[in-house]
Amino acid sequence: MSQAHNDPTPMNILLLGPPGSGKGTQAERLIEKYGFTHLATGDMLRAEVREDTELGRMAHEIMAQGKLVHDEIINQMIRNHIARVVQAGGRAMLDGYPRTLGQLEFLLNCMSDLGSELHAVFFLDVSRETLLERMLGRMICRNCGAVYHQRNKPPRNDMTCDICQGDVERRVDDTKEKIEQRLITYSEQTEPILGALESSGLLYRIQADRDAPEVFAEICRELDRIAVAGKA
Ligand code: AP5
Repeated sequence: MSQAHNDPTPMNILLLGPPGSGKGTQAERLIEKYGFTHLATGDMLRAEVREDTELGRMAHEIMAQGKLVHDEIINQMIRNHIARVVQAGGRAMLDGYPRTLGQLEFLLNCMSDLGSELHAVFFLDVSRETLLERMLGRMICRNCGAVYHQRNKPPRNDMTCDICQGDVERRVDDTKEKIEQRLITYSEQTEPILGALESSGLLYRIQADRDAPEVFAEICRELDRIAVAGKA
């Protein structure tokens, strides 16, 4: 059974995975099919940087070093977004959050305070070699954040976004050195979340080295199964 776009059944999910594992790429597809609201902390922070806010200036330094912005700041930033979606009866899809055990705890408390819950966590499992290839070839639209890849998914017109005609560029943290640091940060601070969720029954490990449509199809199969089982 496929979930209809306007199906009102609550469903809150997380996309978890190392940098470059394809969270943003899958999010774009899942929004269209299931009507999720995409809450991506990396995108929110990049918007703050573009707008040159106080938070943006502080986050820029940390992001450029491949490290994590402090839990307290991130939790405050995301809390109202989650509340807005849940209280409106929408479906939240968190991407890039939580990234530490402290953020996970905050999220679970926040959901419970809102009288809601998490329904599934999709872990995108990708080899290190593939992660490097994806991030070194990645390009994003400076204006709307759409994601491209120089080989797998180039924009139709040179460095111009297909969607909004904005300029397409490399991300400042997609250099070899910064990617190495981000992968270290991931294994030290984010990977422990997998262990914490292991016995929750919420964790779905997706073999995500494959083409984006194959990965998408597997996530959809699991989501549809969850819906059929009445978990969502
Ligand atoms: P964020 O923007 O969240 O970066 P990330 O987790 O490092 O994830 P990426 O955006 O790099 O990758 P992705 O998994 O979305 O892959 P994508 O779909 O683009 O965070 C950036 C920074 O912000 C952090 O380093 C940190 O400083 C800060 N931050 C953010 N959240 C925070 C938090 N919660 N706490 C503290 N700090 C936080 O795909 C990658 C490329 O591969 C693309 O080119 C795509 O076209 C291609 N691709 C994707 N899937 C496939 C496929 N299946 N086959 C072939 N190509 C593919």
